[in-house]
Amino acid sequence: MPNTTHITYESLLEGNKTFVAKTLDLDPEYFEQLALGQTPPVLWVGCADSRVPANQITNTKPGEIFVHRNIANVVVHSDMNLLSVLDYAVNVLGVKHVIVCGHYGCGGVIAAMGNKENGIVDNWLRHIKDVYRLHMAELDAITDNQKRTDRLVELNVIENVNNLASTTIVQNAWKNGKELSVHGWVYRLSTGFISDLKVSMKDNTKLEEVFRLK
Ligand code: CO
Repeated sequence: MPNTTHITYESLLEGNKTFVAKTLDLDPEYFEQLALGQTPPVLWVGCADSRVPANQITNTKPGEIFVHRNIANVVVHSDMNLLSVLDYAVNVLGVKHVIVCGHYGCGGVIAAMGNKENGIVDNWLRHIKDVYRLHMAELDAITDNQKRTDRLVELNVIENVNNLASTTIVQNAWKNGKELSVHGWVYRLSTGFISDLKVSMKDNTKLEEVFRLK
């Protein structure tokens, strides 16, 4: 586990000064350039977990990925926060890719598989219990606990890729012939590698009829 005892309120502000100095050392115009605007080609929907920062794990820089994170990277079609981010990303920034990235060992997914009360978050994790219910036969057949959790992490990503594709925002983008793909990835904390679950969609061909906007 990372040692975080040296992280304090003050150390973050000190860290910021170091960041500015180091960055300006490499490129004196870096911040002036960045302040001119953003054209990220990708929207990232990831977990709030502190160990899964979108930029670091994809070796990208500020300005390159538009990011939305919540507990267990859940896409809910009535979540105004997610919808606002998605609408802005697709219709204003013009992103070409939306990636749902889950991660093995996700505390939200583990909690959703359990029967303990955790507080308010249980209402959010209910969405993952619904994913479990949808795939109960497959999941209950996996006897190894770790493997069953890993599979639910994957299925949660797959369901949320479907949820994204079914939003009116993505449906309208496809209806209007916009180039837009949605993808599902999983990050493994213990190796640092991302796996592509290969559930990408760039149109309605893999989506059930009832979700299609025509
Ligand atoms: Co997580």
